[in-house]
Amino acid sequence: MQIKLMDRSSYKDAAAIMAQCLSQPWSEKTLFQELSNPNAHSYVAYEDGEAAGFLSVWEVFGEVSINNIAVVEKFRRRGIAKALMEHMLGELSHALSVTLEVRRSNAAAIALYQSFGFAVAGERKNFYSYPTEDAILMTKYLNGEK
Ligand SMILES: CC(C)(COP(=O)(O)OP(=O)(O)OC[C@H]1O[C@@H](n2cnc3c(N)ncnc32)[C@H](O)[C@@H]1OP(=O)(O)O)[C@@H](O)C(=O)NCCC(=O)NCCS
Repeated sequence: MQIKLMDRSSYKDAAAIMAQCLSQPWSEKTLFQELSNPNAHSYVAYEDGEAAGFLSVWEVFGEVSINNIAVVEKFRRRGIAKALMEHMLGELSHALSVTLEVRRSNAAAIALYQSFGFAVAGERKNFYSYPTEDAILMTKYLNGEK
């Protein structure tokens, strides 16, 4: 597996991964715009040259928020999401905290985040559409932050 920072050669791969995995994927245009967002860090994972996984975060003043993580179905349970998370946490090791929202029913993603030490920090009622569902907020503190 290879993890690359998303660039002009890979943003369409990221769009294809999101379209396969998420109910409200970002468009190619949005992903292209992310390339010039100084707060954005986006990574694409390749398995034998095939686009397999995507992770997008924003970092503002040491606070990282995870926007999206997705792994193409046929590549799941092989550690690709884990590798993307480890890569991102390694690159942003100076950060103070990492937060995210996840659908209450998304047991796979919640288990992934728990395995990285994220803890439930709250919830947002009816946060998601298509279908409507509550969001669980999870946070992981780094570098001695509470
Ligand atoms: C969530 C998702 C990204 C996980 O990707 P993945 O590459 O299959 O995950 P990994 O193989 O790296 O798994 C790492 C750990 O996460 C947990 N995990 C992942 N998938 C799981 C599942 N289906 N059930 C239970 N735990 C799971 C496990 O703890 C796993 O470690 P283990 O395999 O040693 O038990 C993937 O299922 C996906 O793309 N889902 C659809 C998109 C989505 O829901 N994204 C999250 C939005 S918040």
